Amino acid sequence: MTASTGAPAPEQREKWSGQTAFILAAVGSAVGLGNIWRFPGQAYESGGGAFMIPYLIALVTAGIPLLLLENGIGHRFRGSAPLALRRVHKRAEGVGWFQIAVSFVIGLYYTVVIAWAVSFFFFSFNLDYAEDPAGFFIGEYLQLGDEVKLGFDIVPGVMWPLLAIWAIAIIVLALGVHNGVERLNVVGIPLLVVTFIVLAVRAMMLDGAMDGIEALFTPDFSALADINVWIAAYGQVFFSLSLAYGVMITYASYRKKRSNMTAPAFVVAFGNCSFSLLAGFAVFGAIGFLAHEQGVSVAELDGLTGVSLSFITFPAVIAQMPGGPIFGAAFFASLVIAGLTSLISLLQTISAALQDKFGWHPRGSAVAVGLIMATLSVLGFSTTTGLYLLDTVDQWSNQLGIVAGAIGMVAAVMIARRGREIALHLSAVSTLGVGRAWRVLVVGVSLLLTYMLVRKTVELATQGYEGYPGEYLAVFGWGTAGFLVLIAIVLPLMPWHRAIAEFDAWPTEGQLEEAAAGAARKGGA
Ligand code: PHE
Repeated sequence: MTASTGAPAPEQREKWSGQTAFILAAVGSAVGLGNIWRFPGQAYESGGGAFMIPYLIALVTAGIPLLLLENGIGHRFRGSAPLALRRVHKRAEGVGWFQIAVSFVIGLYYTVVIAWAVSFFFFSFNLDYAEDPAGFFIGEYLQLGDEVKLGFDIVPGVMWPLLAIWAIAIIVLALGVHNGVERLNVVGIPLLVVTFIVLAVRAMMLDGAMDGIEALFTPDFSALADINVWIAAYGQVFFSLSLAYGVMITYASYRKKRSNMTAPAFVVAFGNCSFSLLAGFAVFGAIGFLAHEQGVSVAELDGLTGVSLSFITFPAVIAQMPGGPIFGAAFFASLVIAGLTSLISLLQTISAALQDKFGWHPRGSAVAVGLIMATLSVLGFSTTTGLYLLDTVDQWSNQLGIVAGAIGMVAAVMIARRGREIALHLSAVSTLGVGRAWRVLVVGVSLLLTYMLVRKTVELATQGYEGYPGEYLAVFGWGTAGFLVLIAIVLPLMPWHRAIAEFDAWPTEGQLEEAAAGAARKGGA
């Protein structure tokens, strides 16, 4: 029918097989390294139990509203981030590319952490790290140099698992949304949840576990007065729900036309949050045991945050507990599965954007993206100075990049005056409607994010980061920010492989409104 009217042929977008597949894939993206190694350490450092307050507030005021927004944009405007946002507003394509660039940068080092977990999975069987976990990770495994500079001394022990992860990722992507991405999640997520519940239960049974849990959840309410704790909570929610990377827009675009788009967002948000709590129990239960074995209090232990938590402190626990090798292998296998399903979402997002823009075939696009990123990832991060680069690029892309990407997205919707349209759309296709409160929250969040962005930019500009040399930060920190902006400017200048239609596949805002009024008259919600 469309052909005869001269309108462009309807897109043959790939599809999920159904709602469950979509939810599992979205949970697969959300539940990742962030839940297992970032959340427990972050919470411990930011007020323990009191952190739950800003965290839950951030989840309700920012996480869920933006997840709904991305679901709405992806489903109504049916495209990867650049295409969908371009349909929101002619000039918003660059915001989409900005998000794609953030995903690109993060994908380069996210893989590296998964590769470490692969190595540590194998090390667990013989407890190779038992004698001196810190020396083993930093010295023997990473072979970290002591100077913060760019280097190209590749560490083979990191490079090989890294290449393996890239090979797996390319294969899964090349199999397509339905046969690759969906299957990985449908198998991986239940497996991950079961393994992790067993791990948590085992950890809770260790001597001293309760002291660890207590250390994690004892509230220090004074932390609530610290603005940085709030910023950390919002940052954690964004990273953890994969928001402002273009991921959820892309995943929503693979849903069928008649799909419930709101209820799954709640399932994903609460599922992700529960997994983080579960990880908190598993990790701090085990840490309580370590303190107990060493006859000290949890507060006296070092290395309870960041990279050290998973790769130094946790190995120390594994080395001392009965059945350590199995527990260790299960822990690192969980990290690998959780990381892989998140990684795939990042890569699919990038690949989908290139397919939409240049008309590339899904398989070709997957292979091209994978090969280019694998090369950069190996050269930049599997070296003796890779950890410094990872740390720097992560600060700029995660702390500044995603916040800026989120602000741009909300601004695009507001400038195009499409907030109401998206709300009506979500309500029309879903069981649970969204209304004015949602729109107010979205706008409120963007103001808060703007404040965070300015503050963080000023902080990085005036105080630097971790005492790293200024030139190094100029090139790799600010350089990363420059790269994101460059992509956002250049890609919209390139031509689309075919004219993109104004988007008319759905009832217009007016029709949606009439339908909503009709439903209300009939006594609907
Ligand atoms: N949500 C993932 C995590 O918690 C990180 C991620 C962000 C993955 C964005 C994909 C896209 O680890």
